[in-house]
Amino acid sequence: MLVSAAEMLKKAKEGKYAVGQFNINNLEWAKAILLTAQECNSPVILGVSEGAGKYMCGYTTVVGMVKGMINELGITVPVAIHLDHGSYEHALKVIEAGFSSVMFDGSHYPIDENIEKTKEIISIAHSKGISVEAEVGSIGGEEDGVVGGGEVADPAECKMIADLGVDFLAAGIGNIHGKYPANWKGLNFDVLAEIEKVTSPMPLVLHGGTGIPADMIKKAISLGVAKINVNTECQLSFAAATRKYVEAGKDLEGKGFDPRKLLAPGVEAIKETVKEKMELFGSVNKA
Ligand code: 13P
Repeated sequence: MLVSAAEMLKKAKEGKYAVGQFNINNLEWAKAILLTAQECNSPVILGVSEGAGKYMCGYTTVVGMVKGMINELGITVPVAIHLDHGSYEHALKVIEAGFSSVMFDGSHYPIDENIEKTKEIISIAHSKGISVEAEVGSIGGEEDGVVGGGEVADPAECKMIADLGVDFLAAGIGNIHGKYPANWKGLNFDVLAEIEKVTSPMPLVLHGGTGIPADMIKKAISLGVAKINVNTECQLSFAAATRKYVEAGKDLEGKGFDPRKLLAPGVEAIKETVKEKMELFGSVNKA
């Protein structure tokens, strides 16, 4: 069932668990995540970066593919298709294309401009029942060419953006996209607690879910995080499983080359990763 992410995250926040956002890049990725969500009876958010959207031949292709899969695979758990780190222009494009949720990442604008643009996106998205995520304080690391300095968000700015009526808010608290460096200081729970205090009951979003230790994930959820984004970990497990298959020469066995068999171990690996995260985030049986 394709839905906006507002209701599922409100429920997650109240129930003290988090819904996973798993980024998709192709049909295999989307299928693996949808099947796992159904098996775990968990709500799920499919994240689409601008680059992944372009790769998959545009946002209308993504919407058509995901809607077709929901129908053909009999997916009954709540599913949101969400633009990840959208620019202003692309936020408008996905709203047109039929996404059910959008992140407008205005964190690189001065706060006044971030506020103006966020307000506009909220008004257009909400008129169509589409949920909106905003960001304050950039997330560190690089994702799809978007580089963030990893600054920690200012709780007062978080409140300003939250008060505009966004549905959920991503706030930088020392989290980084991709692998964490050995000297990473960990999440800044003092700032998270302050942000929660001034924005509650707004669901908070934790980006850079790959490589955050389980105890930190649980603590973040206890402090108001209701959506956790995971991308790199699925990429790594997919690549490792596919590499193993190729190195064993299995792609060359038999009569012909079957791309479906080549990708199958990667799909299974993504399923395992997603299931593990849903268990850790506490979203199993919360559909
Ligand atoms: P990771 O790639 O670190 O899992 O982060 C994903 C993310 O935050 C997508 O917005």
